[in-house]
Amino acid sequence: MRVFLSGMPKAELHLHLEGSLSPETIAAIAKRNGLDYFTTAEEVERSLADRPPGLMGFLKHHFKSQEVMQSRQDFYDATYGLAAKLKENNVVYADLFFDPQAHTSRGISFSDMFGGLDAGRRDAEAELGIEINLIMCIQRERSVDSAFEMLDQAAPFRDRIIGLGMDSGPEYGNPPVKFRQVYARAREEGYYLTGHHDVDVRDSVEHIWQSLEIIGMDRIDHGLNAVDDPRLVTELARRDMCLTGSPVKRTTDPAPQDVDRIKKLDEAGVCVSLNTDDPEEFESGYLTNMLILFQQASGYSEADMTRLMLNAFNALWLGDVEKRAYFAQLREYAGANGVAWADVTRQ
Ligand code: ADE
Ligand code: ZN
Repeated sequence: MRVFLSGMPKAELHLHLEGSLSPETIAAIAKRNGLDYFTTAEEVERSLADRPPGLMGFLKHHFKSQEVMQSRQDFYDATYGLAAKLKENNVVYADLFFDPQAHTSRGISFSDMFGGLDAGRRDAEAELGIEINLIMCIQRERSVDSAFEMLDQAAPFRDRIIGLGMDSGPEYGNPPVKFRQVYARAREEGYYLTGHHDVDVRDSVEHIWQSLEIIGMDRIDHGLNAVDDPRLVTELARRDMCLTGSPVKRTTDPAPQDVDRIKKLDEAGVCVSLNTDDPEEFESGYLTNMLILFQQASGYSEADMTRLMLNAFNALWLGDVEKRAYFAQLREYAGANGVAWADVTRQ
């Protein structure tokens, strides 16, 4: 099973650049920028280990560590370094989230940040053969005006950013509808739309409904509390709406989170995919390791694990021809490993 999961061609749809900085990368960049904190990997690891539980505790370390990033070169190195890790995990396609406001609010220019990121993913594409598209996220705790300003700053780069997302927190008090006008303009400008609905935050189910019915999102990030509302489960399945699940594991967790919820949604015919979210900030790490941990906790077969990966490829924001090529790659891999496609698709 480990070998099967390791070799499987993979897609990541929920992956943050800012959560993919290794302690070594953070320390090297901090030193290069003459900072007086996070100059050793050990210091970064201590901060990771000491973070309080829950989303807001997680975000405290997440925000502090990304502040080391300042120059175009920093963003280039972070992106290219992440792509090399994806390659090791046989990830062939990734949608990569980034948080412009977290950087522009510190005085970094949008064009420096984006220039480094975009050059990093383009070089990775040419040299490592991984397709990476970029999703810029609204930080939901910031103002609507600030989100509009981000859209303005992104306008010159519109054709190099595939989607608009929404992340950070707290989520309660900052629901999807807060940004309905921002999303409406982004839709007019041709962006695909997605947004975070972290698990077990207050009113999560109501927020998912808002994102479906008011915002018209194309994907739902996390969103696993949908399982609490049978009508929502039916609606997600009917729309073939993909939830980008992230069954991450921290040192203190006995197993990856939300395995039962993912199984229930999968059994109900909802398109749910498995993603690493912030692979340097969780013990579950990168995608091969996460798949192994999920499989062990779920008891899923090779065919079941292939179905969850097929869900990710199904949810790509690409044309039919490109998608069919990815399906064929996965199907060929399954066939070569004796996995019947009818078991994968349950047809
Ligand atoms: N930023 C990075 N990961 C996040 C998550 N899971 N929720 C909100 N903001 C995030
Ligand atoms: Zn996330």
